Amino acid sequence: EPSLTTPPLQAQEIDLTLAFQVNSTLRDPDIIQLGAAFPAMELLPLAQLNRLMGKILRENPGLAHSYGTPNGCEELRSELARRMLDAGCSVPPDQIVVTNGANEAIFLTLKALTQPGDTVAVESPTYFTMLEVMKALHIKALTLPTHPSEGISLPHLEGALQTGDVKACLLVSNFSNPLGSCMDDWKKKRLMELLNQYDVPLIEDDVYGELYFEGTRPKAIKAFDTENRVLYCSSVSKTLSPGMRTGWCAGGRYHPKISKMKSVISFATSMALQLTVAAFLSNGGYDRHLRQLRRAYQAQMSRMQQAIYDYFPAETCVTRPRGAHVLWVEMPTGFDTLRLYREALEHRIDIAPGVMFSASGKCYSNCFRLNTAILWSDAVDQAMRTLGHLAKKQLAELLLRDSHF
Ligand SMILES: Cc1ncc(COP(=O)(O)O)c(C=O)c1O
Repeated sequence: EPSLTTPPLQAQEIDLTLAFQVNSTLRDPDIIQLGAAFPAMELLPLAQLNRLMGKILRENPGLAHSYGTPNGCEELRSELARRMLDAGCSVPPDQIVVTNGANEAIFLTLKALTQPGDTVAVESPTYFTMLEVMKALHIKALTLPTHPSEGISLPHLEGALQTGDVKACLLVSNFSNPLGSCMDDWKKKRLMELLNQYDVPLIEDDVYGELYFEGTRPKAIKAFDTENRVLYCSSVSKTLSPGMRTGWCAGGRYHPKISKMKSVISFATSMALQLTVAAFLSNGGYDRHLRQLRRAYQAQMSRMQQAIYDYFPAETCVTRPRGAHVLWVEMPTGFDTLRLYREALEHRIDIAPGVMFSASGKCYSNCFRLNTAILWSDAVDQAMRTLGHLAKKQLAELLLRDSHF
């Protein structure tokens, strides 16, 4: 397993030049997509969702085509509030704003909490869309050391909070992307104590919380929020359908601001989609579906880890997430995963090189992320073999070069 990350500890302007170049290949259907953190469409209940949407459009066309309200439809907010109880959060439905995916929720929360030039503390490596949103809002990122299984380093976070420069924190609490880390309850509680002490709000992104492999659903950090300072964001993109674009934000004391901001930016979220998701969540099939999805993702992750052990150089380190569907692979220092990315593309294989997850665009050049949601097949096995072969070739060159110095 890789160890605690060591990003630069100054707040910095975000440079995504490389990330934008690389991101364009993530959507090419002719490429074996091991890069993007997309869910496996084959494992989502798409036929059921289609049937429900058809029924809603037939039986309730007026409502389904209406504008709706900025906070979102009541049926859905009630279902979401009920689901949040599993994460240990008791939030009334009228304190929830339905959004276009978690992405819009994160945009709204950052917009509500910051001014251009402000600094937001994030874990590092960081999910690159968060960096994109921060850049668009002219926010500086303070990237903090993060452990691949335990999450952000609290001593470093406390040091940052002591400076008084941190306007907000933005964290993926459960099975983060790309590290897959999940803080334990003690750490979540301690984190809340620090945020209360320094009077700083937390934007919590919990899109992967329901995808745990063993035991019970990990609690949200918001479960320990005694002062209503956590803005909890999530979506059904990873569990039901990314295209439904249905997410939400429980903004705590910032709820009125988030609600106003939502109405300014997109007025409301599509009613047809909200009603469909609400119908799925209320009909009782969601828990059964989640059980199957978790089992499948756990098996696929083991398979991908095994392929790394089998095909990659012995020096390779890989994370051991306890949920969701991404792996972070660390090669020895000096290895260039942008080169691996380019060489893999020639074989029509896509990976997400580490620099995409770095605010400066310069860190993690020896790391890359793999999506394990993709269904295992001979083609995927062959792709992993090819990647392993390319990695061995590059590492051998690196070792030879170093031995000449
Ligand atoms: C950590 C994290 N947050 C948010 C998102 C985006 O979620 P949505 O598709 O609901 O906007 C993703 C998608 O990859 C993600 O990995």
